[in-house]
Parts: sequence; C-alpha cells; structure tokens
Amino acid sequence: MIPTNNIISRRDFIKKTGATIAGSMLVSPAFSSSMTKASGKKKVALVGTGIRGITFWGKFLNEQYSDVIEFVGLCDINPGRLKYARDYIGVDCSLFTSFDEMLEKTDIDLLMVTTVDSTHDEFIVKALDKGIDVASEKPMTTDEKKCQRIIDAQRRSKGKLINAFNYRYGKLFTRLKEIIQSNEIGDLVSIDLNWYLNTYHGASYFRRWHGLRNKGGTLLLHKSAHHFDLLNWYIGSDPVEVHAYGELEKYGKNNTFRGGSCRNCEHKDACKFFWDITENETYMNLYVANEKYDGYIRDNCLWREEIDIFDKMAVQVKYANNVQVSYSLTTYSPFEGFRFAFNGKAGRLETHEGIPWRESLQEDQAELHEKEMDQSSHSRTELKYHEIVTQRIFEDYKRTEFPFVRKGHWGGDKLMFDEIFRGKIIDPKLHHAADIRDGSMAVLVGIAARKSIDERRPVKIAELTDLKPQVNKWM
Ligand SMILES: NC(=O)c1ccc[n+]([C@@H]2O[C@H](COP(=O)([O-])OP(=O)(O)OC[C@H]3O[C@@H](n4cnc5c(N)ncnc54)[C@H](O)[C@@H]3O)[C@@H](O)[C@H]2O)c1
Repeated sequence: MIPTNNIISRRDFIKKTGATIAGSMLVSPAFSSSMTKASGKKKVALVGTGIRGITFWGKFLNEQYSDVIEFVGLCDINPGRLKYARDYIGVDCSLFTSFDEMLEKTDIDLLMVTTVDSTHDEFIVKALDKGIDVASEKPMTTDEKKCQRIIDAQRRSKGKLINAFNYRYGKLFTRLKEIIQSNEIGDLVSIDLNWYLNTYHGASYFRRWHGLRNKGGTLLLHKSAHHFDLLNWYIGSDPVEVHAYGELEKYGKNNTFRGGSCRNCEHKDACKFFWDITENETYMNLYVANEKYDGYIRDNCLWREEIDIFDKMAVQVKYANNVQVSYSLTTYSPFEGFRFAFNGKAGRLETHEGIPWRESLQEDQAELHEKEMDQSSHSRTELKYHEIVTQRIFEDYKRTEFPFVRKGHWGGDKLMFDEIFRGKIIDPKLHHAADIRDGSMAVLVGIAARKSIDERRPVKIAELTDLKPQVNKWM
C-alpha cells in the first residue's frame, strides 16, 4: 500500500511552483522544483522497460533518489521484459501490459516515457490529458502531426511536459554555453557541427527498430534530436528553414550477404560487424529471453533489406536571428567523436572529442558507447581532457584543458535528474531545463531535414506545426 498522507496535491503543486503554464508555449519554465519542495515523495510510473528505462530511469533513479520518489507502476507490452525490469530496478510496484489500465488504476504524479520513439506521443498525450506531469525521452516524437498533437495536449493540460535533453547538462556542453553567453566571441553568426558515430555505436542503430523510419523517424530524429537541441539552446533562437541531404550507402541492402540474428548467423566469421550479445548477461535476460513474446531481435542483422533510414546526413539550418548551422552525422566512422566550432562577430570557439591523433590518451572504440551509457560513476574525472580553444579576431588563440567526463552522457544524466527530482539548478541563466517548445523545435529540425531529403527542397519550420519561430527564445 502506498502512503498518501505526505503527497502534495496537484493543485498545491501548481500553485507552489508555477510550473504549469497551460497554453503558453513561449516561456521556458524551470523544471518542477515541487519535486523536492514537496513534503513527500513523487509517485512515478514508467512506460517502456527497455534498456534506457530499466537502467537510468529505473535502477539509477530508484537507487539514488528514493528519498524523493516512489515507483507506483511499470508498463511494457512485453510481459517478460516487464517482470525482468521489476527485479532489475528493485521495486515492488504494479506491472501493466496495458498503458490505459495503468493510467486508470494508478495514482501518478510523473510519468516517464522510455518506449520506442514513434510511440511517445500516445503516452505523453494521454498522461497530459489526465493532468499528469510527463518526462519524455528524446526525441519527443517522430513526425509533425504527432508533434502538433502533443503541443495541443500541453495547451489544454495542467500537467507539464519535461523533455529529457541530458546532453545540455553534460559538463563540456555546459562550459561551451557559458563561454558563448560570456560574449567572448561576440554575437554568434554560425556554427559547424560534425558528429561521428563509430562502427560499434553507429552500427547499433541498424540492428533493431532504429533502422526503420516508422519506429525511430530516422537518425535525424532519434540521434540528431540531441544535437539539434544543443544547437537551438546555444543559439537561443528558433530554427526557420532547413535544407538537407541523406543517403543509405553502407548498412541495410548495401552488403552482399545477410543473416538472421548475429548469434545464429552463418556469416559470423566473415562479417566485420558481428556482435556477440551472449557476452552481455543483461541483454540476454532483457531481450533474448523475451523474444518469444514480440519477436524483438536485439542482435538483428544490420544488412536487413527492410532498413530504410539514412546512414550519412548533411543539414543546413537558418535561424530566426540569422545564425546559420552546418551539421553532419556519420554512422560508420573509424572513431567516435565530434568537432564543434562557433563563429562569432568577435572571434571563434572550438572543441572536439575523440579525434584519435589529437587525444592525450587513446580510447578503445568498442568501449566508448558503454561508457557513454554507463551510470555508475558520474563524477569521476578521467585522465583525459577536452581541448577548448577560443580566438578573438586579430588576437592569439587561447587553449584551455577542460576535465574530461564521458560516463552518463558527459556527466549530464545525473545533473539532469538533480534538477528534475531535487530542484538543483546548475545556473538559471543557462536555461538547462527543456520544455515543450524546446522538445518541439529539436524534432522539427529533424522532421524538416527528413522532408527536405525526401522532397528535395528547403523546408520551413512554420509549415510543420502552428508554432511560429521566435527571434529570441528567452525574451
Ligand atoms: N537520452 C539518451 O541519452 C538516451 C539513450 C538511450 C535511449 N534513449 C531513448 O530511450 C527510449 C528507449 O530506448 P531503449 O534503447 O531503451 O529501447 P528498447 O528497445 O530497449 O526499449 C523500448 C521498450 O519500449 C517498449 N514498447 C514499445 N512499444 C510500446 C508500447 N506501445 N507500449 C509499451 N511499451 C512499448 C518495448 O517493448 C521495449 O521494452 C527511446 O526513446 C530512446 O530514444 C535516450
């Protein structure tokens, strides 16, 4: 039985925090500080007990924040995964294979959505329509119609949608934001961002549902939503127009052979991308043991003919404040990393990660993705450092070494949870909290890019939903 005497009421919650601004899409409200100011625990429920759900939003949340939250329900369409999740997370709450039933039978303060990307909208809209707060994994959704449904639901709801953009909270990305806001390089005029996924991380998206655009919306949504959100956040203005190119040239139909799951494949020895899921006990228990319920093959062949997403993408974005962005995403790079460069009227800021010949220590490419997802030691600073270089026009460059943290998405996962669940704000001037407008604008860039590739034309953000791009987000 769950204690109810110390749980703050919805009405008090909204009154105390001013968290929900129904109908207002222009303000970027802070995350609900009520979650820590409340006298009791937040009742949380989770839909989608896959790897992100059980590790980060499940076990880590339960272990580190159980003084302020209490799990009241878990939901997944796969009953086996659901039961495994309960034991893995270490909770004793009700389990549901029907989301509607969970909503009906459970008293929830905050719903956490960690399902397949194209299904997020259903749970967000239903929860908002019951006045429940929602924290959604990225991407908020995968097409413009679903995005509009979520926007409309937020307008009529007392509940508040939090977009869980953990990259913003990453230590390096926060440092870049501080430098931009310090005006050291003057007003931003353009940004170049090239993101490289290696043959472990990049390939992982082609093994399962992410390889189908009707599930993940293409990597322009599933992966680039993180990057588009960072860009929007740094620029502080809304995107207006997008022009993109994309192709599928390496994975999917592009190979001469293909098989079933890696573990049963006859091409194990010949395939450079062979991945042995049997070495990972959690994956065996979470996915392989439960294939019988839904046929979800976690180590599926990345040469499947059905794969219909792009594996290389180039995107140009123009913003309402005239800033221009050049972005690219590669999914089969020999190394994992990125190059980020900001051009301002007074100078330039740049950094990079993972470029092997620039790094102080070499990384094992196979371990990099594991580290990014690892939630075990967020605060550990590694021996490496990030190189941040600023150079004002007509002056010499300034190079600084910034502590390197890779675990838990550059340390951002824990800092985001601290803000959501403990009300600990890193610095209000940096606007880390991402609201529905931020979530929408990040996916709208991806949706516009996909449309631009499909229709071979520049696509205006304003043609996708009724959100009108603003010149300055925080004014
Ligand atoms: N922010 C980050 O850094 C980060 C990292 C990893 C994943 N994610 C996000 O987390 C989400 C989950 O990713 P994952 O890797 O855990 O995927 P996953 O495939 O391991 O898990 C998805 C789960 O959703 C369940 N599901 C699918 N449709 C459902 C429905 N209609 N009702 C109930 N359950 C349903 C599946 O059965 C599965 O258990 C995705 O949206 C992904 O983008 C975010």
